[in-house]
Amino acid sequence: MTALALDLERVPSHVACVMDGNGRWAQSRGLPRTEGHRAGEQALFDVVDGALDIGVEWLTVYAFSTENWRRPAGEVRFLLEFNEELLLRRRDDLHERGVRIRFVGRRDRRVPKRLLGLMDDAIDLTKHNDRMTLTIAFNYGGRAEIVDAVRAVVNSGISAERITERTIACRLYDPEMPEPDLMIRTSGEFRTSNFLLWELAYSELYFTDTAWPDFRRGDLYEAIRVYQERERRFGRVSPNGAGPAIASNGDA
Ligand code: IPE
Ligand code: IPE
Ligand code: MG
Repeated sequence: MTALALDLERVPSHVACVMDGNGRWAQSRGLPRTEGHRAGEQALFDVVDGALDIGVEWLTVYAFSTENWRRPAGEVRFLLEFNEELLLRRRDDLHERGVRIRFVGRRDRRVPKRLLGLMDDAIDLTKHNDRMTLTIAFNYGGRAEIVDAVRAVVNSGISAERITERTIACRLYDPEMPEPDLMIRTSGEFRTSNFLLWELAYSELYFTDTAWPDFRRGDLYEAIRVYQERERRFGRVSPNGAGPAIASNGDA
């Protein structure tokens, strides 16, 4: 599907993706799981280009979770090295496209120093870009993020009565990051797997059976088309009377 079917006035400003299904994609082709991660690179950069073309301002992708350390050591090692290579290979190209690169996640001792250094270089190189922010969630867990925010709140010495949602939100990994409008998960799993737990509270969720390595900008546009049919109510009553779910039952 092309961008032509979209209302370009109502493009979600922040799209978040759980890039899932790499391992199964590879295994179904008789390849090692790691080949699926490799194939996911093309998907990611096609989605970045597609997002840039329609004016998505924030794109956040889940690259490695705090739970992914539980995988076999060889796969973990591959993922660490692959992410280093990917940053080196793509950093300048992203910079030329006006993409600002950021990371969310825990910078703990398990993340190799060299990778942390490359992350810092990419952040620094691209920090003045303003076309789109690509946030890579690496060693990221939504619960860890909330725990880290709570620790910061306690360390700030603020009294319990004065704590609001804002007190927590401004201590998340990137306080400037708006909440996602749309969260996409590929490969047929219907869960968040600890992705952006706080931030997804009112995001529209979209699931597709397509495996991440097969996902392309057209699939992004299809997700956005579906998003544009949704009515976001944020707890309010629909201004149109009956919501679309009732209308599509044929009652209205
Ligand atoms: C997502 O693909 C990539 C990472 C979690 C790093 P998976 O590796 O989870 O692929 P499946 O879900 O096992 O097929
Ligand atoms: C979520 O996928 C993490 C990433 C895509 C990086 P997983 O494949 O790790 O999630 P589960 O284990 O199926 O829930
Ligand atoms: Mg998976």
